Amino acid sequence: MSPPYYVGIDVGTTGAKVILVDVGGYVVMQHVEEYPLYTPRLGWTEQEPEDWWIAVKKALSAFWASGIKPDDVEGIGLTGQMHGLVVVDSHLKPLRRAILWNDQRTGPQAKEIVERLGLHKIISLTGNYPYTGFTAPKLLWLKENEQSVYSRVSKFMLPKDYIGLKLTGKVLTDVNDASGTSLFDVSKRKWSKELIEELDISPDVLPEVIESPSIRGEVTATGSEETGLKPGTPVVAGAGDQGAAGVGAGAVREGIGSINVGTSGVVFSSSDSYRFDSRGRLHSFCHAVPGKWHVMGVMLAAGGSLRWFRDVLGEPERTTALIAGLDVYDILTQEASLVPPGSEGVLFLPYLSGERTPHGDPNARGVFFGLSLKHTKRHMVRAVLEGVAYGLRDSFELMMSTGVSPSEFRIMGGGAKSVLWRKIIADVLGRPVYTMAVDEGSSYGAAILGAVGAGAFSRVDDAVKALVKTQDFTEADSENHRLYDSWYQLY
Ligand code: XUL
Repeated sequence: MSPPYYVGIDVGTTGAKVILVDVGGYVVMQHVEEYPLYTPRLGWTEQEPEDWWIAVKKALSAFWASGIKPDDVEGIGLTGQMHGLVVVDSHLKPLRRAILWNDQRTGPQAKEIVERLGLHKIISLTGNYPYTGFTAPKLLWLKENEQSVYSRVSKFMLPKDYIGLKLTGKVLTDVNDASGTSLFDVSKRKWSKELIEELDISPDVLPEVIESPSIRGEVTATGSEETGLKPGTPVVAGAGDQGAAGVGAGAVREGIGSINVGTSGVVFSSSDSYRFDSRGRLHSFCHAVPGKWHVMGVMLAAGGSLRWFRDVLGEPERTTALIAGLDVYDILTQEASLVPPGSEGVLFLPYLSGERTPHGDPNARGVFFGLSLKHTKRHMVRAVLEGVAYGLRDSFELMMSTGVSPSEFRIMGGGAKSVLWRKIIADVLGRPVYTMAVDEGSSYGAAILGAVGAGAFSRVDDAVKALVKTQDFTEADSENHRLYDSWYQLY
């Protein structure tokens, strides 16, 4: 726990998380500052870029207040929510609030892109289906609905890049975050000229793109005055939250996958070559590791399904937890552990928020299936845990169909805390699952990229080898795996 230090900044959807890591990979300090989420209309989600900046500054000032010296910070890495649209004018001032990744207003524009180009062409140009939440439909929406704003756009960027702009004065993004715009040729790691022409978007508004551990600039005098950081401190390009989380979990070579069970669920794997699903059901992005790619499936309600169960059906457990000073999730999963694998025939479809991978269907809905008089609430809790694991397996199966087949998974997020859920996931996937010594995900990955940019390590792989450590190991039981196989077919 000694200097030099590296800072990882994560511009999340609920708040900014800033962490300070030493050269041994130890997390010296971290601070989270929340900011508002605006929903001016049903399905619209926006944030004020300036709120992100204020939060980052507050978090950094907490570091200095506790005695950390800016001179000891040698590199900064950025990460954040992907796909959001930030537009600035010729003075590099935001023209409106950012439109976020989970904003649903651009359904018609996403559809228009597919209709205009055809699914085959858009996937061959970008490797991905142009989801509603991705950036290109947002630019089209702006053009169609806010012409006066659109006409003044000098550049667009992704959320974390706004922090990069405030720190370094430069507008840049990285190959990983650019991959989620639907304007990027993921196979060639550059903007797709053809697509940009087809969509009639001016190439001038596109930010320059560099590899994730490359330096985007140094902290300017103004950046230093505002944040307390030392002028000249290198800031690396960084990556989107999932790419950075992959780095933080050590999923930087083919064979090692990662799973994140937060509100949403993510199955992620590094890939040595460009791979994609011909129907665009998986995300295929440039990795934060130069020369590598990653494939990823995203389910929308993983931990969110269990939270919903807790809120809607878990009143008695919540009360017990309160009285006994226990964690309500521990009580619920303890009940679930009393039921055998397969929940004696109860199945849960976790589509409480629609679904992204593999269905791409905002209208998909949750289901409890197979209930009979013999079933109890315990069966239903276990069915929720298993249903989420089957959803993760859907992504894993698609991943394997592209030729990427991780032999182990590193698991992170709130859901990773449950021993039972880890066991279910290992058994359903038929792969061992490891927890991480540091479970900070994206911000940790960003700090690692910062350390590489600062020259502490020459390559991301070297940094990961030195810093990223696994902790607990959960083996996949072959008998349970066979049993789950048949339930998975039914699912
Ligand atoms: C990735 C994705 C989310 C957002 C917000 O495709 O949609 O991870 O980046 O966290």
